[in-house]
Amino acid sequence: MITRIFIMVSIFFVSPALGHDNVQNLAVKMRMQAMKEMAQNMKKLKGLSTGSIIFDKTKAYSIVVRIGELAEKTPALFQKEASDPESEAKPEIWLEYQDFSSKAENLKKIAFELSQKITNSEDAKSALRELGGGCKACHQVYKN
Ligand code: HEC
Repeated sequence: MITRIFIMVSIFFVSPALGHDNVQNLAVKMRMQAMKEMAQNMKKLKGLSTGSIIFDKTKAYSIVVRIGELAEKTPALFQKEASDPESEAKPEIWLEYQDFSSKAENLKKIAFELSQKITNSEDAKSALRELGGGCKACHQVYKN
């Protein structure tokens, strides 16, 4: 009985915390997960830029490189046209897949270039702006 209650409680309280649990399509789930990780890294970079996280060059480097890696994976994650009621992806992605991929490629380039250059919180601030432009360039066209 206690076990059963525990399981019930887990279903109700653990699932929403994981996010994306209503997403049935695995390909959609994986690409959303990658995007979520992009956002998590941007949030960390913001912390470094404002001083809410003590600035650390190595930390900044690995955050920005991670964004670059995720950008590199983006075209493959979206290669197969997959949809889900929870998805915010526009069908134009698969009509303009080359352009979509080049926007991901551009973010990757920005990230790898910046990764070498962030030496203080001011740099982190301008990096945030540049990277944010790379996210926006794609979202504006391809995300609802
Ligand atoms: C090449 C295009 C592209 C780039 C670049 C891109 N995104 Fe996205 N992003 C998308 C698309 C398309 C979706 C919608 C995916 C879906 O719902 O199936 C999305 C969804 C998201 C979501 C919502 C994920 C969820 O949980 O549903 C977040 C958050 C996000 N992106 C953050 C970012 C951040 C931060 C960056 C830049 C560092 C970025 N994205 C760069 C295309 C892109």
